[in-house]
Amino acid sequence: MKLTEAQLKQFDEEGWIFLPECFSLEEIAVLRGEAETIYNQQRPEVWREKSGAPRTAFAAHTYNEAFGILGRHPRLVEPLEQLFGEKVYMHQFKVNAKAKFTGDVWQWHQDYGTWARDDGMPEPRAMNISVFLDEVFPFNGPLMLIPKSHKHGVLEAGHDTSTTSYPLWTLDNDAVERLVNQGGLVAPTGKPGGVLMFHGNLVHGSSGNITPFPRKIVYLTLNAVSNHIRKPTREEWIAHQDFTPIECCPDDALLQYARAQATAAE
Ligand code: SIN
Ligand code: MN
Repeated sequence: MKLTEAQLKQFDEEGWIFLPECFSLEEIAVLRGEAETIYNQQRPEVWREKSGAPRTAFAAHTYNEAFGILGRHPRLVEPLEQLFGEKVYMHQFKVNAKAKFTGDVWQWHQDYGTWARDDGMPEPRAMNISVFLDEVFPFNGPLMLIPKSHKHGVLEAGHDTSTTSYPLWTLDNDAVERLVNQGGLVAPTGKPGGVLMFHGNLVHGSSGNITPFPRKIVYLTLNAVSNHIRKPTREEWIAHQDFTPIECCPDDALLQYARAQATAAE
């Protein structure tokens, strides 16, 4: 799948693009079920909120077949190959839960800030492309983005190891207010199957979820192969050190997998 000129222009100017209904409900349903199975497992890759609710499942593409297919999906991989002009590899893969009633905040941050400081990634030639597994509403903790904030390079940040269970390089309130005054705020919402991609330097965050509606989103962090990380400090299953270029699966691979699973269950 290739991005159009208009989408490339929006990405350059605003730092993000939303593609509604990129995956069908049939494709998404199988992933949603697999996510719940994974959250119920006790394994080091599944991180929990302070409350004990699941927060994120790292590296699910390495131990779950359906997420393995998603991690090679042309609708996600090809747009980033197009943007970076080269093959990409998986730097990080996570299935964020934002559980009903208990999903915690993600403080304001830039992704590349963490990849540079913690992983030794040379340039912001990596980015998150995410897939909505549940419907994302204005009220269940949607991702909030500050348009145009990717134009400011890596901003000063402090390492917050206490607010949530997840250590993060976060921005201070004055910086966020200044950027919002310039670029505004958006919170893309939509049905399961929507895809959101955003620049590695785009400032973003999300608030807690006190509604009865879970908000699961999968994040593929794809990095240009030549931009592979140089100084890893985190676990291999958080910041991968296998820089093998991704070879895409067929476009209907997830659908075929979902249908095979449904037939097997009959
Ligand atoms: C992230 O920024 O890495 C995750 C934010 C979210 O899932 O709300
Ligand atoms: Mn982030």
